Amino acid sequence: MIFGATGDLAKRKLFPSLYNLFKKEQLGRFAVIGVARRTLTNEEFQNNVKQSVNPDGAENSEIDEFASRFYYHSHDVTDSNSYAALNRLATEMDSHYGLKGNRIFYLAMAPEFFGTIAEHLKLDGLTETQGFKRLVIEKPFGHDLDSAKVLNNQIRTAFSEDEIYRIDHYLGKEMVQNIEVIRFANAIFEPLWNNRFISNIQVTSSEVLGVEERGRYYEKSGALRDMVQNHMLQMVALLAMEPPIRLTTDEVRSEKVRVFRALRPIKDSDVNQYFVRGQYGKGKIQDLEVPAYNQEEMVSPESNTETFVAGRLMIDNFRWAGVPFYIRTGKRMAAKSTKIVVQFKDIPMDLYNKQEGSVNPNLLVIHIQPEEGITLYFNAKRSGQSLNSTPVKLSYANKGIDGLNTPEAYEKLLYDCLRGDATNFTHWDEVALSWSFVDNISAVWENEKESFPNYESGTMGPKAADELLEKDGFFWWPVT
Ligand code: BG6
Repeated sequence: MIFGATGDLAKRKLFPSLYNLFKKEQLGRFAVIGVARRTLTNEEFQNNVKQSVNPDGAENSEIDEFASRFYYHSHDVTDSNSYAALNRLATEMDSHYGLKGNRIFYLAMAPEFFGTIAEHLKLDGLTETQGFKRLVIEKPFGHDLDSAKVLNNQIRTAFSEDEIYRIDHYLGKEMVQNIEVIRFANAIFEPLWNNRFISNIQVTSSEVLGVEERGRYYEKSGALRDMVQNHMLQMVALLAMEPPIRLTTDEVRSEKVRVFRALRPIKDSDVNQYFVRGQYGKGKIQDLEVPAYNQEEMVSPESNTETFVAGRLMIDNFRWAGVPFYIRTGKRMAAKSTKIVVQFKDIPMDLYNKQEGSVNPNLLVIHIQPEEGITLYFNAKRSGQSLNSTPVKLSYANKGIDGLNTPEAYEKLLYDCLRGDATNFTHWDEVALSWSFVDNISAVWENEKESFPNYESGTMGPKAADELLEKDGFFWWPVT
């Protein structure tokens, strides 16, 4: 059951991902009930589904067969009668398609209803089923730690922790999943993966798009809650975690939790020293003038909301003591790019470049998107008479090698949920710890008005984000 079935996420991500799974015969026996407020017939809903998977509308019997499994229920989220009717429809589907009572409830809608829906699902009998029951829940998971706790308590009345699949779609990205493999399957990296050999790690997720039509949500969220609390911290956890003793859900998640526990909390007085916020002003994106954030729809002209965050994180454990993890994310930046740069420490002395300055540090770059791959930068002899060194790179492009597009994050995550594998979903402990880290920062920022806008659209953010690294003797390695 997809709650929010007429929404953008369902149309852009969920239907196409389900269709891909269907084509690969990975859905097995299934039916989908679309649940939303508006009144639609099954046929209208099925047409929406077809439109989403096949925008040019060409005849395709496979798509017809896929769409025929979609049913629609017009729903009032606060009305028990509506849940009872939904339950009857689900029971009918169960026997018609032989689904053995297995039910997945996917909440792809406004977060204010998450708790209410979960409570009703139990109260009105939908969770009383012969098979498994799973709840998939989109972000935002609360607005801060307190609201996240309230929400968690509400959903825990109906589902146990291992039945809850909290989506962080970054965990479904091929190259985010690859971080662990690169680290734990390579004898050349793992021994160096610590404070003796790594000088700093930089994680950038930049976007070209502005806030688009999400002003109302974004005004209350900002980049810190929208990107840092979840996606950015999740990538840091994967980069910093200890090797799990095995690849089970519990082992992997508990290693990530240990990273969050070691994350040094930011004191109020340090927030502006280690974190930088920005808000985009007008500027040019591919030669087109774009408006400032505070001129966007549903955004206050006086807005104090950040559309950019850069920060320095310290992980206080044996492996990472002294190694800064820099993160940076924002909207209306120069490029759409998510990359991780691991900068290794310099060698003790430079034999080769006496006249030309120091040797380049070794870098391992993990390209998350749009390209997927790995580049290793190292030094080799410059050709010719001299004995100078020159930087060279070894690259591996994921897409280039496989010749195929890697599956969309949502496709992988939906498949994991169908199989009951919650490894790439966030455990409550991760959510709680990351909120408490972020809450310190937002509490300070909410009480101090910043002079926004402070970066031009189409750039890599405010100058202060560069100074953050310069203070430590580093700089952001270019990601574009
Ligand atoms: C979402 C945020 O979680 O991630 C959006 O709410 C952001 O604001 C998006 O644009 C970025 O995701 P991706 O996969 O395009 O990097």
